[in-house]
Amino acid sequence: MPKTSAKDALDDPTSVEVRMADKHDADELSAMNYEFNGVTVTSQHILDALATGQEIVAIAMVNDSVVGFACGQFHRSFCYNSPSGEITEMYVRAAYRRRGVGSALLVFLERELRKRGVTGVRILTDQDNEAALGLYFGLDYLEKDETVLAKEL
Ligand SMILES: CC(C)(COP(=O)(O)OP(=O)(O)OC[C@H]1O[C@@H](n2cnc3c(N)ncnc32)[C@H](O)[C@@H]1OP(=O)(O)O)[C@@H](O)C(=O)NCCC(=O)NCCS
Repeated sequence: MPKTSAKDALDDPTSVEVRMADKHDADELSAMNYEFNGVTVTSQHILDALATGQEIVAIAMVNDSVVGFACGQFHRSFCYNSPSGEITEMYVRAAYRRRGVGSALLVFLERELRKRGVTGVRILTDQDNEAALGLYFGLDYLEKDETVLAKEL
């Protein structure tokens, strides 16, 4: 039987598998992070980060190909009863976009955050990032009337 192509597989949304990243994904995470952020981090840096368990790192696969990743974080404060969550990275390789992979990654991270007691999540994105905004609005995220401040230290 001929092997199913990535495109055929993507036409079937059930073929997109999202799972927690593990140490075997370090090289692909390093490559995708460079594609996305233009930042070079070594695979060892990623292995060390994964080992801390502080960041939820999700990987999307189609057949045996790694096609995207996303990261979530959460933190607790005495001021609130439940921890707050944040989606910090979301990347799908260009050839695999618009097939539900980003949505699958986001739903997966939401579930993982909820398991950790998180009841609300936020995402920072550029106002002109139509793809990201479309993805987030489509999954019921609402725009907040807040200003982001930043400073180099
Ligand atoms: C944003 C990104 C992760 C979306 O991934 P994706 O796998 O294409 O997303 P999905 O296929 O799940 O799209 C879900 C919905 O988002 C919206 N959307 C996605 N891409 C879009 C685009 N280019 N233009 C407009 N809307 C878009 C659509 O409403 C889409 O639903 P539809 O295809 O049924 O119309 C991907 O485009 C990406 O990696 N971009 C570069 C990195 C980036 O900007 N990351 C976000 C930083 S916060």
